[in-house]
Amino acid sequence: MASSFTKFVACLTLLALLLGTSSAQLTPDFYCDSCPGLLDAVRNQIKLAVARENRMGASILRLFFHDCFVNGCDGSLLLDDTPTFVGEKRAAPNLNSARGFEVIDAVKAAVEEVCPGVVSCADILAISARDSVVELGGPSWNVKLGRRDALTASQAAANTSIPPPTSNLDQLVSSFQAQGLSAQDMVALSGGHTIGQARCTSFRSRIYNETTIDGFFAATRQAGCPRTAGSGDNNLAPLDMQSPTCFDNYYYKNLVARRGLLHSDQQLLSGGFSDSQVRLYSGDSDAFSRDFVAAMIKMGDIKPLTGNNGEIRKNCRRVN
Ligand code: HEM
Ligand SMILES: *[C@@H]1O[C@H](CO)[C@@H](O)[C@H](O)[C@H]1NC(C)=O
Ligand SMILES: *[C@@H]1O[C@H](CO)[C@@H](O)[C@H](O)[C@H]1NC(C)=O
Repeated sequence: MASSFTKFVACLTLLALLLGTSSAQLTPDFYCDSCPGLLDAVRNQIKLAVARENRMGASILRLFFHDCFVNGCDGSLLLDDTPTFVGEKRAAPNLNSARGFEVIDAVKAAVEEVCPGVVSCADILAISARDSVVELGGPSWNVKLGRRDALTASQAAANTSIPPPTSNLDQLVSSFQAQGLSAQDMVALSGGHTIGQARCTSFRSRIYNETTIDGFFAATRQAGCPRTAGSGDNNLAPLDMQSPTCFDNYYYKNLVARRGLLHSDQQLLSGGFSDSQVRLYSGDSDAFSRDFVAAMIKMGDIKPLTGNNGEIRKNCRRVN
């Protein structure tokens, strides 16, 4: 009697533990029963968006990074400002720069059509980022799911948590370590700059003032980015001049050729500890893909809201 009662209690305890951990942990099959059409719905919308404009794949990948680095991957970046609510869209790293929100709206609408009220915007952004990489020829991975959406946002945290392009190597390392990501993760995730564009204002001082830059490359970029601050600030240049719409390892090959566009990019190959990792990726795209995928999964694990925390937003731009 006593022993079966003990077993019963042990079982309850185990069940409670399992429930406790399953609500606190993300898993790829989170919506298997509740939204079997989820992955197809997201993929179809991302395919359409990237077909319409290749750069959009890059813009969506960056949105996920900017969401996760500000109090976790909780969809906070997606909230619009209102007269009484300050969101993250006008924070320094996002202002005149973060884009693709209407694509996330379209993905959300497609998902709401197949399973209304079930899937969070935070998860939709995580899947969209993966599908964007795949659509541009990069590696695939199973996206862990079960995040819920934030009820708040933080412009202050967005200003301070996302590293600026003026960062030096040690500043890059510490901003990633503040999120629980290693220096190695930082170097692999920076490979996200193998796609997409940057504005003149983000790389002006590098192309006019730095000596650690290939002369031909600097001259080419100067032609599209006037020296004087305030003129041509929003002129665009590809982060990877070789193949800006292909997710490949040319980002690292460029660094070896001293053709990193941002100051922060070239810092990864500047005589420091990360040189060897950059050289490895520049010659081994499989090594890059493997480490990029592992680091994306780690980034997606940053402080998710789970269980009863947060909500499942109906519209990604506002709390319910
Ligand atoms: C390591 C620190 C990082 C710094 C300092 C940084 C900085 C920047 C800057 C300044 C831009 C250009 C913004 C503009 O001028 O409008 C940019 C673009 C971009 N970043 Fe990063 N970034 C970093 C890490 C990452 C990571 C981890 C990812 C994703 C894995 C990422 C993905 C992108 C993409 C895809 C673009 C192009 C977006 C587009 O074309 O719309 N970045 N980044
Ligand atoms: C964030 O940075 C922007 C742009 O530099 C600035 O206007 C805003 O006041 C800052 N917000 C906070 C809360 O620090
Ligand atoms: C280059 O550096 C000088 C001296 O620090 C500074 O005054 C100037 O504004 C910089 N030019 C650009 C284009 O960043």
